[in-house]
Amino acid sequence: LTLSTRELTADQIEAMSYNELIGLVRETNRPPGGLRSIVKIAQQAFLRPGRRVLEIGTSTGITAVELAGFTGCEVVAIDINEASLEDGRRRAEIAGVAGVVSFELRDATRTELEDESFDLVFCGNVTSLVSDREAALAEYTRVLRTGGFIGAIPMYYTRPPSDELLEAVSQAIHVQIEAHDRQFWLDFFVAGQLHPHWVEDFEFDSIASDDVDAFVDEILGREHLLGLSDDARSALARRYGHDMQLFRENLSHMGFSVLLARKEPAGTERELFTATVVSPK
Ligand SMILES: C[S@@+](CC[C@H](N)C(=O)[O-])C[C@H]1O[C@@H](n2cnc3c(N)ncnc32)[C@H](O)[C@@H]1O
Repeated sequence: LTLSTRELTADQIEAMSYNELIGLVRETNRPPGGLRSIVKIAQQAFLRPGRRVLEIGTSTGITAVELAGFTGCEVVAIDINEASLEDGRRRAEIAGVAGVVSFELRDATRTELEDESFDLVFCGNVTSLVSDREAALAEYTRVLRTGGFIGAIPMYYTRPPSDELLEAVSQAIHVQIEAHDRQFWLDFFVAGQLHPHWVEDFEFDSIASDDVDAFVDEILGREHLLGLSDDARSALARRYGHDMQLFRENLSHMGFSVLLARKEPAGTERELFTATVVSPK
């Protein structure tokens, strides 16, 4: 992806993973639930100036930039895709928060950041894409200060997908995905010093297929893509259009939870008599 868009060939575009496509088209790539989820995480984690946030798998930076803009906190946003990070830096400049957000090339499982140095580690839905997710969670916990929060927005299946659908999505994102349910992720984020703190559940709206096509057309009209050769352009339209229609189908089987887990002092007992909201929903 260091190639300029002008030199990209149809074959190179066909071979890209969805993450690389996002970098190429500069998709905003919001977390599940978009801005509303970001606001909830900021409020529930009591973010304010002076607080430090680590964002895992920031992609093109929307969450990092919005969190910094809303709260004035300092954000370190990491990803393994340099092209996306570059786009994040541009976004931060435009939003006027470049002074408090840094975009760094780091791996979720080995950040090399200091122990206990963040008040919130936000990982959106990214942990499901990391092959060694236990190592990732251990790393988030290590860099989180005691009393701080892990914010996550795991997506999960509310209706079982067909094997064909799972395989097609796995191929599109170049990650072998598994059909986990809500409880799997709730249990995953409770480990060692991490205790459940807050959770809210959502389902995805159903989006018309025509609406997906219109969105893909809008994205393909972006100025920085106008220099693509005709061949590359039709490959991009085919590949991106295919992935977005596939995600439309996939998300019709899915929901997500916006959740926070808190790092408690070692040895803190679990809450036995837990409770769930009954009303208002
Ligand atoms: C779907 S996007 C993230 C969208 C959004 N930020 C969210 O919260 O879901 C996933 C991002 O995670 C990054 N990623 C995947 N594995 C990673 C890893 N081991 N360490 C850091 N980033 C990773 C990818 O490069 C990609 O930009």
